[in-house]
Amino acid sequence: MAILSECAESREERVLPLLSPQSRAKHDLSKRRDTIPLFYAEMQGEELDRRITAAREVLGEKLVILGHHYQRDEIIKYADYRGDSFKLAQLAAARPQAQYIVFCGVHFMAESADVLSAAHQKVILPNPTAGCSMADMANIAEVEECWDVLTEMLGEDAGIIPVTYMNSAANLKAFCGRNGGVVCTSSNAPTVMRWAFSQGKRVLFFPDEHLGRNTALKYGITPEQMVVWNPKNPLLMEGSEEQVEQAKIILWKGYCSTHMRFSVEQIAKARADFPGIKVLVHPECRQEVVATADLYGSTEYIVRQIEQAPAGSQWAVGTEINLVHRLAEAHPEQLIFCLDPVVCPCSTMYRIHPAYLAWVLEALLEGEVINQVSVDEETAHWARVALERMLSLA
Ligand code: 13P
Repeated sequence: MAILSECAESREERVLPLLSPQSRAKHDLSKRRDTIPLFYAEMQGEELDRRITAAREVLGEKLVILGHHYQRDEIIKYADYRGDSFKLAQLAAARPQAQYIVFCGVHFMAESADVLSAAHQKVILPNPTAGCSMADMANIAEVEECWDVLTEMLGEDAGIIPVTYMNSAANLKAFCGRNGGVVCTSSNAPTVMRWAFSQGKRVLFFPDEHLGRNTALKYGITPEQMVVWNPKNPLLMEGSEEQVEQAKIILWKGYCSTHMRFSVEQIAKARADFPGIKVLVHPECRQEVVATADLYGSTEYIVRQIEQAPAGSQWAVGTEINLVHRLAEAHPEQLIFCLDPVVCPCSTMYRIHPAYLAWVLEALLEGEVINQVSVDEETAHWARVALERMLSLA
C-alpha cells in the first residue's frame, strides 16, 4: 500500500476491503474529499506516474503546477515552476492563462496563490492537510489581543506597523492589510522591514521570532530594542514595560521546528571535519546559528548559491532535507550535506504525495475541482492589499 501509513485511518480504509469489487469501485469514486480514496492510496509508483503524466498532457495550458523547493523528488519533477515562497507567489499572480493552479506546497502558500490569482482561476492543494506548524502558532484572536495590549500600553500614536511572515493564515495577512501593514518572505524581509520602519516607529512581527530577530539585527536594531510577545502567556512579555516602550520591534514567539534543529555545535563539527567548508542556512534558524554561518537566505537563495559555486565547493546546509538531498544529487562535483546528521524533513510539505496529485488531476479531467483552497472575499481583499504591498517593494 503506497501511502496508507501517511493517511489517517478513514471509513473507506476500514470498510472498502469488506465490499464486493463493484460496490468498492462505487465507494472509491464517491464525493468524499476529506480523505484520499483507497483507489489512489494503494496505487504504486509507475501507475501514478503514468496517470499524472497523462492528465497533465490532456489539461495542457489550463493547468500550472507550482512546487516549493521542499517538495519530495517524486513531486517536484512534475512542477512546471519551482521556487521559494516569494517566487511562487509572483508566479501565481502572473499565470492568468491557467485555469487551475495546483500548488504543491503548504496551505498558507495556496491561500496566497488564491488571493493573488485572477477570479476565474482555481487553486488546488492536493492534500488539504498540508499545513505549517509555525503558521499555526499565531491566530487572529491572539494577534488582535496583542495589538490591543500594545496600543493600550503605548497609546494610539504608538506607530506600530504589523508585518506578517508569508507563513501565516490569510486572515493574518488581511489584518496587516487593514492596519497599514505588509507581508514578507524570507527573501525580502530586509526590504520589507526598511519599508515598515519608514511608515511607523515600531514593528510587530509574527509569527517567526527568529526571522524577525535575524532581519532586525541586519537592519541595525539592537537586542535591547527587541521584546518578545508570548501568545500563550501575554502577561509574561519578555521585557520590562520600559523595554516595551523603547522597543523598535515586538517579536512573536513562534518558530519552525525543522530549522530549530540546527545548532552552533553542528557548525563547529562541520568546520572541524571539513576545513574551509561553507555553512549556508535559512533565516528561520536561531540567531546564533545565522550569525555563525557563512551565508544565509531563502530556499531560492540557497539553491542559487550552490548552482553558481565552482566544482570542488563544500557546503553544510541548514534547511529541509529533501532540498539538501536534491542539491547534493544534482551537484556531484561539490560536497553538499545537511548540517543536522539526523534527517530533518518538513513533515507537512511531505504530505503532498504523488497519489494526491493523481487524485486531484484526474478529478479535473472529470470536470471536478477537489481540494480547492478558497479565501473569502473580504479576507482576500485585505490580504491582497498586504501581499501586493510586498510585491511592489521587491
Ligand atoms: P522560503 O520562502 O525560503 O522558501 O521558505 C519557506 C518556508 O516555509 C521555509 O521553512
